[in-house]
Amino acid sequence: MHGEKLIEIRGLKKNFGKLLALDNLNFDIYRGEIFGLLGPNGAGKSTFISILTTICKPTSGDVFIKGFSVKRQPDKVKRSIGFVPQDIALYTMLSGHDNLNFWAGIYGLSGRLKKERIKKVLSIVRLEDRAKDRVEEYSGGMKRRLNIAVALLHHPEILVMDEPTVGVDIQSRKYILDAVKGLKEEGRTVIFTSHYIDEMESLCDRIALINKGKIEAIGTVDELRNKYGMKTIEDIMLKFIE
Ligand SMILES: Nc1ncnc2c1ncn2[C@@H]1O[C@H](COP(=O)(O)OP(=O)(O)O)[C@@H](O)[C@H]1O
Ligand SMILES: [Mg+2]
Repeated sequence: MHGEKLIEIRGLKKNFGKLLALDNLNFDIYRGEIFGLLGPNGAGKSTFISILTTICKPTSGDVFIKGFSVKRQPDKVKRSIGFVPQDIALYTMLSGHDNLNFWAGIYGLSGRLKKERIKKVLSIVRLEDRAKDRVEEYSGGMKRRLNIAVALLHHPEILVMDEPTVGVDIQSRKYILDAVKGLKEEGRTVIFTSHYIDEMESLCDRIALINKGKIEAIGTVDELRNKYGMKTIEDIMLKFIE
């Protein structure tokens, strides 16, 4: 039932001094799935995302994305990944369109392709109508959507988002979750973290529960419910947190 292994996480450990932030992670992420990493604050979600996106290096073990090592081939890994960080990174004095234009230039896009990409990513996050307004006039949710648009400019196969719906109004939240579904329909892979259990349950093909740097459980919502004999993912999460 699972497709091709796109990402292989092997013996992954990350220490910050004495603190073991990631404790021997071993699992795979498949092409075309929506994969959710769910866990309480301090569980290790952002640390995992930073390693996946080559921002920080594992202490030991490795992650292979399309066979490329995040340790040894970070440049190859980056080409397949669009990353939406937890913090907003935009030029607020510029319009949404001009932010995209700037980043498209950084990615080496030009001419018609650049124009087409900007149009496409604006439509994915439903910001076409506000593209000419300055970002300082945007709501938090609109800024987050623009950050997602930036991450999609180089047409990555994999979109990685750290807590994309935190502090976002309900309309933006809906647009973000719709964008995730749309990307999946295009065959792309989406990995995101959250501590909102309900959106994970309805959206994700598979969920990994992380707590204190350990993956406690992993599977589809039905697999997890059956395995632990519990009705909700929340109940399963609580079992591990206690
Ligand atoms: N740069 C860092 N230096 C020291 N400790 C860190 C650093 N980054 C994260 N940590 C610690 O690692 C653990 C996991 O953090 P993090 O991955 O940010 O968790 P989450 O994103 O799930 O809230 C926490 O205990 C956090 O304090
Ligand atoms: Mg975090």
